[in-house]
Amino acid sequence: MKTVKPYNQKESKKEQVEEMFDNISHKYDFLNHFFSAGIDKRWRKKIRKQIESIPHANILDVATGTADLCVELSKIEGANMIGLDISKGMLEKGEVKVKDKGLSNRIKLVHGDSEHMPFEDNSFDVVTVSFGVRNFQNLEKGLKECLRVLKKGGSLIILEFSNPKNFPVKQLFNFYSGSVMPTVGGMFSKDKKAYKYLHDSSRAFPNREDFVAILDKVGFNNNSFTPVSSGIACIYNAIK
Ligand SMILES: C[S@@+](CC[C@H](N)C(=O)[O-])C[C@H]1O[C@@H](n2cnc3c(N)ncnc32)[C@H](O)[C@@H]1O
Repeated sequence: MKTVKPYNQKESKKEQVEEMFDNISHKYDFLNHFFSAGIDKRWRKKIRKQIESIPHANILDVATGTADLCVELSKIEGANMIGLDISKGMLEKGEVKVKDKGLSNRIKLVHGDSEHMPFEDNSFDVVTVSFGVRNFQNLEKGLKECLRVLKKGGSLIILEFSNPKNFPVKQLFNFYSGSVMPTVGGMFSKDKKAYKYLHDSSRAFPNREDFVAILDKVGFNNNSFTPVSSGIACIYNAIK
């Protein structure tokens, strides 16, 4: 798999990803919802529906960013969430959101690296990662950590961009994410490279069957994917 980095080839991907999300954290939520026209909310809701039947679920949201998925999952009665992220800038925005919504007793945000998580083995019923795995420096190491912290029988649910296959969605989405988003994202966030990285890293990311094969290799079971919104994104499901 080709390693795509945000700014240069010299520094590690991890350092650059952390710096990039710190840089764009002040505009992240606005641009995220603007670019997706709110579709991202529907995808998060789909994840919530999958978890709703688990009583008193202990959930870890890896690469939580500004905690949007934790907030959505807080609608599940009795569920408790921990959100982990490497970018302090993103977590600061998340903290404000969680506090404003009165959810500080249900959602705890932790600064840390997905490849060395500060949690005991077999701690969580569910681990979620939305638009995070593509940013891991070492994908298999991050996934192995997800496996380690999940309880036996626990679920890993991953939401990630996917390369749509059919005309005209494929062509339109490529133009939108490859040209429109870097230009508009660059204007608002003052970091055009960040939005170019989003496109390049999505294209380089192992898609669908290839990602499922990586989940198999890492040791997850019953691995599957479900394309959403004409294949712009996929929800991956895996069991420990
Ligand atoms: C595109 S954002 C997604 C944020 C959020 N999950 C969402 O759906 O809006 C990717 C997030 O992954 C985080 N991230 C990247 N590499 C990470 C790592 N190694 N450990 C923890 N978080 C990481 C970034 O800091 C960033 O907040």
